[in-house]
Amino acid sequence: MSNLEELDAALDAAYAAGLNARGLGRVADYIPELANGDAEAFGIALLPIGAAQPLTRGDADTVFTLQSVSKVFALAAVIDFCGTALFDQHVGVEPSGDAFHSIVLLENERGVARNPLINAGAILVSAHLPGGTVAQKIGALRDWLQGVCPQQRFEVDERVAESELRTGFRNLAIANFLKHWGHLDDPRSAAETYFRQCALRVTATGLSRLGVVLANGGCHPGGERVIQPDSNRTLLALMSTCGLYDEVGRFAVDVGLPAKSGVSGGILAIVPGRMAIATWGPALGAKGNSVAGLAALRVLAERLKLSLFEAAPA
Ligand code: DON
Repeated sequence: MSNLEELDAALDAAYAAGLNARGLGRVADYIPELANGDAEAFGIALLPIGAAQPLTRGDADTVFTLQSVSKVFALAAVIDFCGTALFDQHVGVEPSGDAFHSIVLLENERGVARNPLINAGAILVSAHLPGGTVAQKIGALRDWLQGVCPQQRFEVDERVAESELRTGFRNLAIANFLKHWGHLDDPRSAAETYFRQCALRVTATGLSRLGVVLANGGCHPGGERVIQPDSNRTLLALMSTCGLYDEVGRFAVDVGLPAKSGVSGGILAIVPGRMAIATWGPALGAKGNSVAGLAALRVLAERLKLSLFEAAPA
């Protein structure tokens, strides 16, 4: 089988597995606007480094909101703008073992969020986007994303942003907690920036184009560097250890790749040096990760031997 035939066959099997798994999950409804998500939808986009277009199946070009997948790119942009000064003093790099929106550890750890991929850490990161206002910060992030992936338009879905702004009291509580411990200045603006960043629209195809830069050590497949090598390594390490929250261990065992999920159903998985895989299926399991996406990634990892923990001997 040629490389392309092998990828195609694996993608067919992964897509079928994803379709089969959809019934095991439920669409998130704690953000009211997300409850309109289609539990039946599912799409995959797999983009090898060097390929002009991703290989796709299903709803790969349907628009959804990035939600927590945005945390990776906000962090990349913030590290790009102000380096890694944030770490240690304001946010750690350890997995939390808790749900994405947990507030429990903040009380014991003086408001230092365990890592930048849980909500507490991500809200802190959002506050460090450049600019004095929410609009300027979101503008900076959009410009950064647009620079990495000119093919996709990154617009805020105002209905989703508004919906979370009206109901996201837990995130507002987290932001207030961060303020209490002196980690940020303006909790309302930090939470609003975070909500708007989560509401940025993308497709699985666009997400695979963003991801391929991470797979390629921080460079566009064309060669231009957009993320410094150290920062790229940091992002992938954090995705591996914290990207799927309290399901990250199971994912490491089953799939073995750096990945980041979001409650609107997206998952971005990176195969360093090889490819990016983006899946989207709004039906979520108990830990808030797409059941179809997880099923498809398990199949791809197994068929294509993608796990970082089973590298073939040289
Ligand atoms: O903060 C929230 O609750 C959402 N805006 C994003 C959470 C999320 O995507 C968690 N990922 N699975």
